[in-house]
Amino acid sequence: MPSELASAHHGGPLDGSAAQALAEQGLELRLISSADVEGFREWSQAVARGFMDGESTTVQLEAALERSLRRRIVGVVDPAAPEAERPVATFASWVGELSIPGGRGIPSVAISAVSVAPTHRRRGILRSMMEGELRRADALGVPIAMLTVSESTIYGRFGFAAAAMSGNLTIDVRRAKWTGPRPDGRVDFISRERFRELAPELYDRVRLATPGEIEMPEGHWDRYAGTRPDAEHPERLRAVRYADASGVERGAVLYTYRENHDDFARSKVRVERLVAETPDAYAALWRFLLELDLVGELEASLVSVQEPVLWMIEDRRAARLWVGDHQWVRILDVPAALQARRYASPGALALEVTDVLGFAEGRWILRVGEGGAGSIEPWEGEAVPDGVPAVRLGVAELSAVYLGWVSLATLAAAGRVQSTDAAAAARLFSWHETASLSLWY
Ligand SMILES: CC(C)(COP(=O)(O)OP(=O)(O)OC[C@H]1O[C@@H](n2cnc3c(N)ncnc32)[C@H](O)[C@@H]1OP(=O)(O)O)[C@@H](O)C(=O)NCCC(=O)NCCS
Repeated sequence: MPSELASAHHGGPLDGSAAQALAEQGLELRLISSADVEGFREWSQAVARGFMDGESTTVQLEAALERSLRRRIVGVVDPAAPEAERPVATFASWVGELSIPGGRGIPSVAISAVSVAPTHRRRGILRSMMEGELRRADALGVPIAMLTVSESTIYGRFGFAAAAMSGNLTIDVRRAKWTGPRPDGRVDFISRERFRELAPELYDRVRLATPGEIEMPEGHWDRYAGTRPDAEHPERLRAVRYADASGVERGAVLYTYRENHDDFARSKVRVERLVAETPDAYAALWRFLLELDLVGELEASLVSVQEPVLWMIEDRRAARLWVGDHQWVRILDVPAALQARRYASPGALALEVTDVLGFAEGRWILRVGEGGAGSIEPWEGEAVPDGVPAVRLGVAELSAVYLGWVSLATLAAAGRVQSTDAAAAARLFSWHETASLSLWY
């Protein structure tokens, strides 16, 4: 990941038009540097308030500052408010890597901590911040923006779409019965601190294989492992690792146990984080969890909708999977995005993309060769080249199919995409690894 891009984004100037639009309402758009400790504290308190949390404690504020050093922190203040230094709107972003089809990553601007105070909502503050920050990212050449959302109704209007789903899984452990492999390595308890060291290495070795995953944001591993000063009940966490037959550590899981006092055998286990580098590590760790004594139910959130464990139990109906939109993506630079990913089969498409914000608007021919690499050329004139299917779609729809999760044929059937051959277009964008994202950011 080019670090120059990340640092140009981090310290770059604010967008003039956004600042102007807010100034017309008597508001001031500000960039808050990590050296401005007091400004950051006010901003963090504004985020907590915006998300209906209580006041942050000093320990929480210090921990937040430490994990925000790579973030570009933007706030909007209202000089007429009684607490004039506490922002009435917040926005954070950083450039990180998004995994895309082909075992590759693409630099993307990750957006987080978006909030507007309840006293200042629905007067266009989010719109000014979002459009301004997207313009900045686009001007720097960041090809994609991404976020996880509190409500699925907010970001479509800015060109974002759900490009990867995630599931919440519940398994009735006593019904399930393990039928998967029984690997010959070892499962052993380790400390939370050891998990904290091991898991990032494992995750970094596997994250590019799953479209939709991202580079782990600062502070997340410490939050999972309870190794942050503001951790709540870290003592409840248990950690286990799998080492293969030659002793190499290949996977680790962190879980919590909630006792059922009326019937101990119906207690619950919650998987907090599972990382597996090999199929054996995956099978061994899931088997360990599903064969724990004194457990009636297992819960795991943000799993893939095609989680292999569903095929490793005898009673499929012991498992319930709730599926929801999770990784939202917005393409800013169509040629860069489409040339970065890989494709499962050769082919060509003529694409006409519309974008109300203008960034991704244009007409291109995408050609995919035998090796799965795509090349883009401008689509000149009105005629579609011979034998090439044409697709007309908005940037949100292109972003939705980008990671290969939803079929373009589904979007055509929903009336959201027009194509002369939706099946061919769908084949080109499809990918065998199911897109997924295992964290909130
Ligand atoms: C979501 C939130 C940031 C919106 O801020 P805002 O300044 O009121 O939004 P704006 O006035 O700029 O609205 C921009 C557009 O989004 C729409 N919109 C705003 N919030 C929306 C919501 N919660 N659901 C659906 N649409 C919404 C507006 O109607 C407006 O539409 P239009 O311009 O197409 O007519 C604010 O309500 C908030 O802080 N909510 C609580 C925290 C939260 O959920 N943050 C988002 C985290 S991902």
